[in-house]
Amino acid sequence: MDKITLGPMPYMSVMPTLLVGANVKGTPNYMVAAWATVACMAPPMVCVAINKGRYTAQGIEENGTFSLNVPSARQVVETDHCGLVSGAKEDKSGVFTSFYGKLETAPLAEECPVNIECRVFQSVDVGSHLLIIGEVVEIHADRSCVTDGKPDIARINPIIYAQATYFDVGNQVDRAFSAGLKYRKE
Ligand SMILES: Cc1cc2nc3c(=O)[nH]c(=O)nc-3n(C[C@H](O)[C@H](O)[C@H](O)COP(=O)(O)O)c2cc1C
Repeated sequence: MDKITLGPMPYMSVMPTLLVGANVKGTPNYMVAAWATVACMAPPMVCVAINKGRYTAQGIEENGTFSLNVPSARQVVETDHCGLVSGAKEDKSGVFTSFYGKLETAPLAEECPVNIECRVFQSVDVGSHLLIIGEVVEIHADRSCVTDGKPDIARINPIIYAQATYFDVGNQVDRAFSAGLKYRKE
């Protein structure tokens, strides 16, 4: 074994690249978030870590709703723009076309192939960031990106985030929940 210690840091090998949508003072705003994942299966919940200083955090606080939008690799420029510029300084409402679903205050970005509508379940103050847990109220998906009733990763072509770099989805390695069946004890 030849390991070195790197010190504590908020590390994950790979992360999704998402756009968090929230109405701030009645205007749609989108920010990039990579610190996000699934939180619960029943009821369906997701969570995202949002720095307390973000303009988006104000909107989530204001309405108790938000959206997670899954951009495709072809939206990488618009997406990164929403991670470079704050809605506090520049109106980002025109970067994506907004529509609304069941929750009337969570803006959804039409250009993104998948949009997740969330109602805030809990907001946990963990330090610099709020871990916002949202109950998934509805998922909207482009018909062309759905196979057998489920979002299809190959058609969505989502953006993977790691090491300050955007990647697209690479090659399939094996099938989950079945690759392990090949395991043989030495
Ligand atoms: C790739 C990438 C990932 C990011 N992930 C997060 C995140 O998970 N949480 C967060 O608070 N900010 C994150 N940011 C920073 C915000 O997107 C950025 O500060 C944005 O301008 C905030 O917009 P707002 O002030 O309009 O809310 C990320 C930025 C980039 C470029």
